[in-house]
Amino acid sequence: MPLSHRSTLTQFLIEERRRFPGASGDFNSLILDAALACKAIARVVAFGELSGMLGNHGTDMNGNGGSVNVQGETQKKLDVLSNDVFIRRNEWSGLLGGMASEEMDGPYQIPAKYPRGKYLLVFDPLDGSSNIDVNMSVGSIFSILRAPQEMADSGRDAIEADFLQPGTQQVAAGYALYGPTTMLMLTVGNGVNGFTLDPNMGEFMLTHPQIRIPADTEEFAINASNSRFWEAPVKRYVDECLAGKTGARGKDFNMRWIASMVAEAHRILMRGGVFLYPRDTKDPTKPGRLRLLYEANPIGFIMEQAGGRASTGRQPVMAVQPASLHQRIGFVFGSKNEVERIERYHTEPAPRAIDNPLFAERSLFRD
Ligand code: F6P
Repeated sequence: MPLSHRSTLTQFLIEERRRFPGASGDFNSLILDAALACKAIARVVAFGELSGMLGNHGTDMNGNGGSVNVQGETQKKLDVLSNDVFIRRNEWSGLLGGMASEEMDGPYQIPAKYPRGKYLLVFDPLDGSSNIDVNMSVGSIFSILRAPQEMADSGRDAIEADFLQPGTQQVAAGYALYGPTTMLMLTVGNGVNGFTLDPNMGEFMLTHPQIRIPADTEEFAINASNSRFWEAPVKRYVDECLAGKTGARGKDFNMRWIASMVAEAHRILMRGGVFLYPRDTKDPTKPGRLRLLYEANPIGFIMEQAGGRASTGRQPVMAVQPASLHQRIGFVFGSKNEVERIERYHTEPAPRAIDNPLFAERSLFRD
């Protein structure tokens, strides 16, 4: 292969930093540590069954037992390993005051042998983990917040409240997709840049500068098996997509569902589309499926920085004041005009057509 003319992630970050002469460079090394964690996870994922790391964590020789995380979800061996990789790659640097992740009940304290710093790292080490054992795309998501000043000054332990910052406070967010190629998508609040892992060099190379999401789309993604639990505005939206050319939208739609949010987010970044995991009535204790701090906020930041939109259906997701570390939320993101339409459906009265029995009969998802 000829020598690549592309920037590496390191070069990209250094060149970006030159625009801010006062910057210390700390932030760059934090992102490089997160990227290194992703590269390490990508290697294990790529070995699949050969890694000996597929299946549930903590099971006995007969496959019984197994550990469950704070969300009540069965942990895969790779969930636990990926969590450890993120911790080990990031705890030593002196840049972090604490970490929080999907796989840990509470904040992770930086061990006493390392200095503490002014940032907080929040992550979902392996998203879409039901896809692991079937060789489908999974990914890692991370979000960087500033530690409260008083915490950074005192070096005290991190507490849950330190992490409860709205998504608008994020200083960076990214995800790695472990698909046919490993990619890293990153925003530091100045657009979204995409990097492809060069397996020969082990480097992320800038391949997708300043990604923009088309404002319109004919592609939607939702888990239709939940349709009987959807609220009326979501039913209306999906019914209209299904009605296609013959309905209110006047155009046909296509549907996709990978069950790996990182993979859906990536498709939408590349060619537009809309993703919905809305608030529903399935389980009154869970007002949504996805987690605000380490799933919705970082993906929302990336979407908005690429010209898309990210919402709860009712308000911008990044405006939500988090109430707990593992808070779940309804989440809708993607092409701007489509997300705005869904938000509008949540505020305006349902149109008469929705009560029309003829329309109802033609809808696949009507109860
Ligand atoms: O962590 C949540 C997640 O795995 C997402 O990546 C994905 O979009 C969703 O769950 C899939 O949910 P379901 O199993 O309902 O399709």
